[in-house]
Amino acid sequence: MTTTTIQIPAEDLKRQYQLIKDEVRAAIDAVLPTGKYTLGPFLEAFEREFAQYCGTKYCVGISNGTEALHLALAACGVGPGDEVITVANTYVATAFAISYVGATPVFVDIDPVSYNMDVSKVEQAITPRTKAIIPVHLYGQPVDMDPLLEIARRHKLWVIEDAAHSHGATYKGRKTGSLGDIGCFSFYPSKNLGCYGDGGGVTLNDDELYDKIRVLRYMGQHVKHVHEIIGFQQRLDPIQAAILSVKLRHLDEWNRKRQHWAALYDELLADLPVVTPKVSPFGTHVYYMYTIRTPRRDQLMDYLAQQGIGTQIIYGTPVPMQPAYRFLGYKESDIPIAAQYAKEYLCLPMFPELTEEEVRRVATAIRQFFGA
Ligand SMILES: Cc1ncc(COP(=O)(O)O)c(C=O)c1O
Repeated sequence: MTTTTIQIPAEDLKRQYQLIKDEVRAAIDAVLPTGKYTLGPFLEAFEREFAQYCGTKYCVGISNGTEALHLALAACGVGPGDEVITVANTYVATAFAISYVGATPVFVDIDPVSYNMDVSKVEQAITPRTKAIIPVHLYGQPVDMDPLLEIARRHKLWVIEDAAHSHGATYKGRKTGSLGDIGCFSFYPSKNLGCYGDGGGVTLNDDELYDKIRVLRYMGQHVKHVHEIIGFQQRLDPIQAAILSVKLRHLDEWNRKRQHWAALYDELLADLPVVTPKVSPFGTHVYYMYTIRTPRRDQLMDYLAQQGIGTQIIYGTPVPMQPAYRFLGYKESDIPIAAQYAKEYLCLPMFPELTEEEVRRVATAIRQFFGA
């Protein structure tokens, strides 16, 4: 790796801030004089707006996406001795949340085209201990939910969507986060909808689960100082919620820009020996990441860095192969496609505020690398 200063970063949150700073500062200025810095009307407003955006009855703001998954599993009553089926190609948080409730993650391989959970492999992973399935709408593309929901219904399993990459993506016209029992979002700064710190949330329709998650989120209380169960201190801050309300108004436009840059990358890279993302016919892709594949990934990454172009590898190690999960005893041959592709993924610069010149420069540099 060289030390060349990066000129086209893999992601750049500073550009977006410059464009919306007046709106953001006004939102923060509205919260600060209230003296109410946890829960309260700004959090409730964002929860209403995001639930409406996703097409669910409720949203509950949580401190981050990992805790959103954790509290969702806890609310569903998943616990020690249970198994939860998820996918090998995800961020480790998906699996950690399963471990936090004392359950065991069971990893299935990915579909070779979409890089999402291979839904046809889920049924054979079900055992009498299975309680839930967590599909992950990876890189911004929805999982094929209908067959998955059908399997879950037949086996009476919860479906908790990990929608950390997919704010605004649709499956057969419906938003991710509204398709299973609970949708879990991260509002980490670089996400399609991100705040200025850590943040997360769940979306759902069920009254009972909604009540449970609200109680779990705030120390097991319905009424202050009456702790009915052992809960958690995992609220989304109202300052972050107010910022998210501002940014939610821009989300569709930002997703359209990501889709525009993705289409341009598709066109400019079409004749090169790299695999570009394929959009499944049943949904829309919101390109949290624009991920290409090549067996020469590491050399390409170094070459682009020398040209001042930042890239990322998401994710270079399948979760079951991480040291933390060595105890589960997975081998690469258990998840062969995920294991192979993890060596090939490269995420190109992708954020709404890219310019056409930058996308063309990235594509030209990739052409040069392949001598095209
Ligand atoms: C797929 C996935 N799930 C869960 C999370 C956890 O979200 P957070 O970082 O807000 O805890 C992330 C965050 O990057 C993620 O990418």
